[in-house]
Amino acid sequence: MLNNFLHFHEASVGSTQQEALRLWQECGSELYFSADEQTMGRGRMQRVWSSPVGNLSLSLALTPSRDLMYSLGFIASLSVLRAIQGFMAQSDGSIVLKWPNDVLLGGAKCAGILIEYHQHPCEALILGIGVNIRSVPENAPYPVTSLLEQGIVCTATEFQDAFIREFQLLRSELQRSGANSIYKKWSNAAHPAGTELNIRTLKENFSGTYLGLTSTGTLQVKLDTGEIREVISADCFIAEGI
Ligand code: BTN
Repeated sequence: MLNNFLHFHEASVGSTQQEALRLWQECGSELYFSADEQTMGRGRMQRVWSSPVGNLSLSLALTPSRDLMYSLGFIASLSVLRAIQGFMAQSDGSIVLKWPNDVLLGGAKCAGILIEYHQHPCEALILGIGVNIRSVPENAPYPVTSLLEQGIVCTATEFQDAFIREFQLLRSELQRSGANSIYKKWSNAAHPAGTELNIRTLKENFSGTYLGLTSTGTLQVKLDTGEIREVISADCFIAEGI
């Protein structure tokens, strides 16, 4: 059976991250929580994530083994990409994954993934997925788009069902074949090696040429000085776009 998650839904919540965590702590099972809108949606790097009715706001509570944890964000962005492709009349190459977990359509961000790690009562990941289905936020610090703006028509519920299906399929593959097969699929759908990236970590900003993912899914870039760096956590922007 593929879909063995419990599912909870509410019309309006602060953040689905909080609700998924609370329910997981109460019932101890893997689950996902969706809402029509969030009033306090959170993004990466402490940013606000705008979540009006019509867009997808969903959080999964997952309890993977520690060695598979890091790859779940890659599975989530691949699942978003595959779900979008399922609603596209024809695949035209305008959809690209950007490290670590962004989905770009026509060069602009249409979806984001937030990964929060918890330890009580045992290790769990709360994986938040936000997709701009109908509308885009104002004043975003990078170019943004929505599926609708790109001519892709679906409802948040239709998208959610397609996303969960793809997520379950890729997670089975992860368990069967290991993280490398996921990293390979992610790399095939991402910006190519040689792409110039601007990288912002909590400590510094620097630029480099994308070389690929390491065997653990971290980013490998080559600096102008020739130094090769491994990046574990950062905001990353394609130099010629976002
Ligand atoms: C990013 O900044 O790119 C990540 C955005 C993640 C947004 C989703 S929407 C569902 C879940 N609930 C939240 O408060 N945030 C995540």
